[in-house]
Amino acid sequence: MRKLKIISVVGARPQFIKAAPVCKALRANHEEILVHSGQHYDYAMSDVFFEQLGIPKPDFNLAVGSGSHARQTGEMMPMLEELFVEQAPDLVLVYGDTNTTLAAGLSAAKIGIPVAHVEAGLRSFNRRMPEEINRIVVDHLSDVLLCPTRASVMNLEAEGIGHGVHLVGDVMLDTARFFAENIDSSATLDTFEVERNGYYFATVHRAGNSDSAANLGAIVEAFNQMDKPVIWAVHPRTLKNLAEFGLLGQVQASEMIRIVPPVSYLETIGLLRSACALLTDSGGMQKEAYFFGIPCVTLREETEWVETVELGWNKLTGADTNRILAAVASLEHPLSRPAVYGDGHAAQAIVEALESHYGGNR
Ligand code: UD1
Repeated sequence: MRKLKIISVVGARPQFIKAAPVCKALRANHEEILVHSGQHYDYAMSDVFFEQLGIPKPDFNLAVGSGSHARQTGEMMPMLEELFVEQAPDLVLVYGDTNTTLAAGLSAAKIGIPVAHVEAGLRSFNRRMPEEINRIVVDHLSDVLLCPTRASVMNLEAEGIGHGVHLVGDVMLDTARFFAENIDSSATLDTFEVERNGYYFATVHRAGNSDSAANLGAIVEAFNQMDKPVIWAVHPRTLKNLAEFGLLGQVQASEMIRIVPPVSYLETIGLLRSACALLTDSGGMQKEAYFFGIPCVTLREETEWVETVELGWNKLTGADTNRILAAVASLEHPLSRPAVYGDGHAAQAIVEALESHYGGNR
């Protein structure tokens, strides 16, 4: 088997969680160059994940920072192109659906470097989501499509993509399985001064919610009327907008809402595992709730993780106060949680898929 030279590009919080097991599996037999775009740059949004998850220090950091979609994506591309030309990897590995994914995928494909996409085939069928645009474009220019679920394989099929598709399972399950035993939930509960099953855990960062005064207001109103405290780990963009929309005072005065800064991976899982339910518009956290058997209320009208809804563990409520309250009042704990996200060895399956495509002699 030929030793492959792979450039992996990450930049945002969920990508660090996905890359952790893949970096480890890749480096057993291949050379990996890790590039951080700098899309997320705060300690709590970036460094803490590298530290906790044991991700190697990036070889390059493009320090692109925040900006509009076009500016952020555009600023990354010439830097990535230069790096790809200079390093001449066998392939570029990208993750998920962020602007970093799009910039790396486009830059590589246009100079003829194969792109492999981890978490390929996910669709919300809502093109107003910037992530949906990123996914569609990156899937259509990828050479190897590493799908987490059967539904994602079928989505690709429906778009005419059949070649290079591998069902590998979900890498976030690898991370959750590996770290679950290191997580001391009781220490986390002490830190946040809550009791097991005595609170809801919430996160909100999706542009459709956090950039809309109406949606954010409706979510705050629902949290305010809960029967148990809501521990809300607030993303920086959401905090900024709560202040801008004049909602921060209401949040701070609420007896039910407790806002806390963004939490690390281990704290997130610690808080999630002991919560009555998760209230979120995150994609990855809907699955993490499923992994640990915690009911989820998704503050969106649609989800890419359709299995969680079909199996009864997730309810879609949009940003609608009454629907959110009704979902929380009728939480379900179905008896079964089939292994729809694989067996927690997706990283190894990804390495094998890459070897099967590129591991022969050049
Ligand atoms: C991005 C991804 C989203 C992913 C999310 C995880 C895109 C289009 N969206 O959204 O799919 O679920 O990451 O969190 O790529 N900010 C900081 N510090 C940081 C990072 C961001 O203060 O370290 C603030 C800035 O005000 C910035 C805003 O958050 O403008 C939005 O950040 P950005 O990376 O553009 O998008 P996310 O909302 O994090």
